[in-house]
Amino acid sequence: MDSIWFLSPDMIVLALFFVFSIAFLAHSGSFSSFTRALIQGNLTRHDGPFSLRKAVSSYENYRKLSMNESSRMRASSSSILRSQRRLVHQLGYSQKLDALDASIRANAVITDEIARLAHKDHPAFFAQRGHAMAGDVGRVREALKHFVRDWSEEGKEERETMFSHILEVLRRVPEGARREQKVLVPGAGLGRLAWEISQLGFDTTANELSYYMILALRFLLSPSATNRVNQHTLQPYSHWFSHQRSNSALFRRIAFPDALPRVSPSFHLLEEDFLLLDPAARTYDCIVTLFFIDTSLNVISTIEHIHALLRAGGTWINLGPLLWTAGAQARVELSLEEVVRVAESVGFTLEEMGGGERTREVRCEYTADRQAMMEWVYKAQFWVARKGA
Ligand SMILES: C[S@@+](CC[C@H](N)C(=O)[O-])C[C@H]1O[C@@H](n2cnc3c(N)ncnc32)[C@H](O)[C@@H]1O
Repeated sequence: MDSIWFLSPDMIVLALFFVFSIAFLAHSGSFSSFTRALIQGNLTRHDGPFSLRKAVSSYENYRKLSMNESSRMRASSSSILRSQRRLVHQLGYSQKLDALDASIRANAVITDEIARLAHKDHPAFFAQRGHAMAGDVGRVREALKHFVRDWSEEGKEERETMFSHILEVLRRVPEGARREQKVLVPGAGLGRLAWEISQLGFDTTANELSYYMILALRFLLSPSATNRVNQHTLQPYSHWFSHQRSNSALFRRIAFPDALPRVSPSFHLLEEDFLLLDPAARTYDCIVTLFFIDTSLNVISTIEHIHALLRAGGTWINLGPLLWTAGAQARVELSLEEVVRVAESVGFTLEEMGGGERTREVRCEYTADRQAMMEWVYKAQFWVARKGA
């Protein structure tokens, strides 16, 4: 209460100026980017759900949290009726839980290395802030499944179902002209699509905000952590006993990466909130969004920003579902028809896809377990939109 009286008159003037500046910005267009910078900085860089600190704590705690869960499963299985214990024993359920523990130890070789690399790459950050935070083991397990989707032979079919539509459009650009074309892939995840685009010869930037993804991708990009094809193995499905035909399917090992990605003059990684990328600093010839636009809390801002970041005549290629963040978190939850209207009113013209349609349905899965007795199939929508010249 008394602390303001310790401020010098100069400091009080400065504080008042700061408060009035915020109030002014709040009523001007610059507020949103200013506040977003402030909030997002906190979200991703300090203690936020996708921050470096949170992600590292989660990778470090993967082993401990997963082992705790396994212990709870063991306790739960031993609390069945005495008459059933013999059968459970005959099934070898205890050995099944031993196999779960072994898979956790195997996966932890990867998660520990991801965390170690993060410390090595950001020594000042951790020296200053420390890193003890509660971990989110669910997000780590999701990231492990993304290794399969993006960088394993097992994920090839799932990738090709989607990538082929996008790459086919990009292949229309003559090979000799590709090097001069800048492509941005916001929400790049573990980066395989962006890397494939760079392999076609485009100057490609993978943009990602979540450090769960960024650190996992860095693990692949780092020659000290990954230096040969199929060097690593994971047991990514071992945490979900549901819908499994057999224990060998549940605990199967997946080798990765099936190709060796490296940062290069044609493949860049931009660790930043897409909404904060400054159109005055750089524009792109093409922006490719894959399973991305519905993850934003305001899809209208996202589409406006895609438009702003494209040069006149530039192309936006989209493929994905409309799975809005639930619980009234997304500002608006639009139908396909409405999203198309937003795109058009922002200034895009959608290419004709045949039969008078401007979007094409692509049935696909996302980080699926191909051997599981369950399928979640998206009828994702694909479109190619042009910004007016
Ligand atoms: C559903 S995932 C799709 C990842 C990847 N495109 C794929 O298909 O595998 C959406 C990704 O977008 C990222 N993302 C969401 N909002 C973002 C933003 N504003 N800037 C950068 N990345 C963002 C998330 O962290 C997440 O990795």
